[in-house]
Amino acid sequence: MTMAARPALRRAIPSLRSSTTHQSPQIQHSLRSFSCSSPACRASPAGSTTPDYATPDPSRPTHFGFETVTEAEKRERVAGVFRSVAESYDKMNDLMSFGWHRVWKDHFVAGLNPGFSPLGTPGSDPRSPQHILDIAGGTGDIAFRMLHTAHVVNGNPDVTVTISDINPAMLSVGRQRAQQQLTASQLAATSFVEANAEDLTQTKPLAPDSHSHSTITTTATTIPTTNPPISSSIPDNSVDLYTVAFGIRNFSNIPAALREAYRVLKPGGVFACLEFSKADRYGPVFNTIYKQWSFGAIPLIGQLVAGDRDSYQYLVESIERFPSQGEFRDMIVDAGFVVGGTGYENLTGGVAAIHKGMKPRAQ
Ligand SMILES: C[S@@+](CC[C@H](N)C(=O)[O-])C[C@H]1O[C@@H](n2cnc3c(N)ncnc32)[C@H](O)[C@@H]1O
Repeated sequence: MTMAARPALRRAIPSLRSSTTHQSPQIQHSLRSFSCSSPACRASPAGSTTPDYATPDPSRPTHFGFETVTEAEKRERVAGVFRSVAESYDKMNDLMSFGWHRVWKDHFVAGLNPGFSPLGTPGSDPRSPQHILDIAGGTGDIAFRMLHTAHVVNGNPDVTVTISDINPAMLSVGRQRAQQQLTASQLAATSFVEANAEDLTQTKPLAPDSHSHSTITTTATTIPTTNPPISSSIPDNSVDLYTVAFGIRNFSNIPAALREAYRVLKPGGVFACLEFSKADRYGPVFNTIYKQWSFGAIPLIGQLVAGDRDSYQYLVESIERFPSQGEFRDMIVDAGFVVGGTGYENLTGGVAAIHKGMKPRAQ
């Protein structure tokens, strides 16, 4: 489902309500978004013993690559990985993927077409204001593409982007890049916040660093970077487009992050995720070569280029541990989103995949 494909969804939703018989497989699949089937989305009513998997629990077991750790330990170790790789992250991305990550990111952003919303109320301007939240935004690759498409390609300067990440080291690199690469108006439409994607009620603007003389811009106001960080919550129903690229597999509690995505999106808002996936669409030979490259070469390149084998070993293991395309689609549906078609698009034989879901307009 792309933003441009929303009419199909809007047509599907009333038919879901009016008909429970003769549903196509696609409609039946969408209908699942109105129920909650997996443990991931079952809330614990008072007195119930059913675990609430969508609420972060520091002591609950999860995985860090191939190791079993607690959610709290994973958070700390993932922070260590991205603190370690922040400076070499962009160069390593090119080396590890032969530059393919750029093609996937371009395709991801083109499909979302930020700054152009043809599906507003009849007669309304398709270039209406939009607020984009780029979660796990790291060094800004997705956000910068969003701003370029919205401001330059679609001529819509009323698009703002918040780049949010748990790791200030990644955001600091992103802010330096933003100052070098963005135009003044794009920079003014950009904000950097530190936040855990699993709890967006606690965010703070990226603290000033000693080399920066810039300002941090929120959607509401421009804050000189000398101001102390202010903690605040991303409000319910405040975001038009939520993006997360190559970030979600690092989260300790993915259902919690999906629940937060649903909370902050406006009705009709879109969740869009670009992530490594199961490379099984070109057959077993391709998959075997891909796995040999991943496990054989990537940690070695990490060691030679970034002096950090362990972090890159974790990155390839985390790809292996991430759910399949269909499993992840089901988690998105369980969080309440409506998906179109299969709910995902494979890229390069499934090496990466794009998943999208829409928060229903009527709940
Ligand atoms: C592989 S980088 C992706 C960066 C960027 N989106 C891109 O596509 O280039 C993954 C990012 O996820 C962030 N991250 C990991 N766990 C997170 C969490 N719980 N909440 C928010 N960000 C998180 C890391 O700090 C890191 O910047």
